[in-house]
Amino acid sequence: MLLRLFFLLVLCPSTLIGQQMNSPLDGRKYFCPGQIWTDLNGNPINAHGGGIIYVDGTYYWYGEHKLLGKSEREGADGGVHCYSSTDLYNWQDEGIILSVDYQNPQSDIALGCILERPKVIYNKRTKLYVMYFKLYLPGRGYDTGYVGVATGTNPSGPFQYSHKFLGAGSSKGSGDFCMFQDEDGNVYHLTVRKPDKAFCIGRLQDDCLYPEGTYKVLSDIPLHTEAPAMVRKDGIYYMIGSGSSGWAPNAARSFSTQNLWKGYKDLGNPCIGVNTYNQLGAEKTFGAQISFILPVKQRPGFYIAMFDIWNPERASDGLYVWLPLRIENGKLIVEWKDQWSF
Ligand code: DGJ
Repeated sequence: MLLRLFFLLVLCPSTLIGQQMNSPLDGRKYFCPGQIWTDLNGNPINAHGGGIIYVDGTYYWYGEHKLLGKSEREGADGGVHCYSSTDLYNWQDEGIILSVDYQNPQSDIALGCILERPKVIYNKRTKLYVMYFKLYLPGRGYDTGYVGVATGTNPSGPFQYSHKFLGAGSSKGSGDFCMFQDEDGNVYHLTVRKPDKAFCIGRLQDDCLYPEGTYKVLSDIPLHTEAPAMVRKDGIYYMIGSGSSGWAPNAARSFSTQNLWKGYKDLGNPCIGVNTYNQLGAEKTFGAQISFILPVKQRPGFYIAMFDIWNPERASDGLYVWLPLRIENGKLIVEWKDQWSF
């Protein structure tokens, strides 16, 4: 126990020093899941429900910018915040690269809209970075779920809002999603359909701006599967998702398949261990919800599972849980660690 406290104090000082002291003066060399994570300016990273792309040696992390101090009830979504890093531990603030519109109340992304879970891909054919996010129009709550689309020519932005579409072939659209870019560049929209919560897959057109053809229900994936995140290793696709309980945590679920369109095998809950800081274990995904699976370029075959600990009362205070994802004997394992590095 004493030894553990010593390591926490030395490696993750925020745990014991009021969480303001975690400025990476000498360069952070460890991940500290569930602790405040500051950028290179010393400010808490504000990129919730995010995803990452890797371009020419640099990682770009895109996430929800939550308006400081606001509750989700009040409308906390301010746009998409981007950070860059070469080592994944230390992040430089690239700013809000897509802001909600403060001028035009008629805009799809006017202040008051719900803008969640942004993800970015690069389309080699059009040479555009394409950003997708969950979009609910201002004043309508979580009624009709659009996919908002923005584009840019630089990974660090700015991005311009382009349009929205209804996913899953439903007039009520879809909810949480993953935009999985396969090795051939094709992009697939895996999402939970509204209002019946069936889990569906569709392919995007070559321009990656709209869906092509019809969506298919993946009947092997349980209804109400949210927050899907996918990775491909050795020809097998692995997916982690969550159940559906608003901002409250629930148990994670995982699947594998050899064919994106069918044959998903239920691999169960990938989580092991207990979050030291809130005492929540696998049954509550350490108090968190999956957002993305990151293949680490410096270590082929090594993956990081990225989760959010939501804070609906003070949304900008939500925390991040990044943990190594192991693929062993066809199963996924995400084991809690107080601090770790790769
Ligand atoms: C769970 C989703 O994963 C989040 O993105 C958010 O939409 C909350 N539900 C809202 O209750």
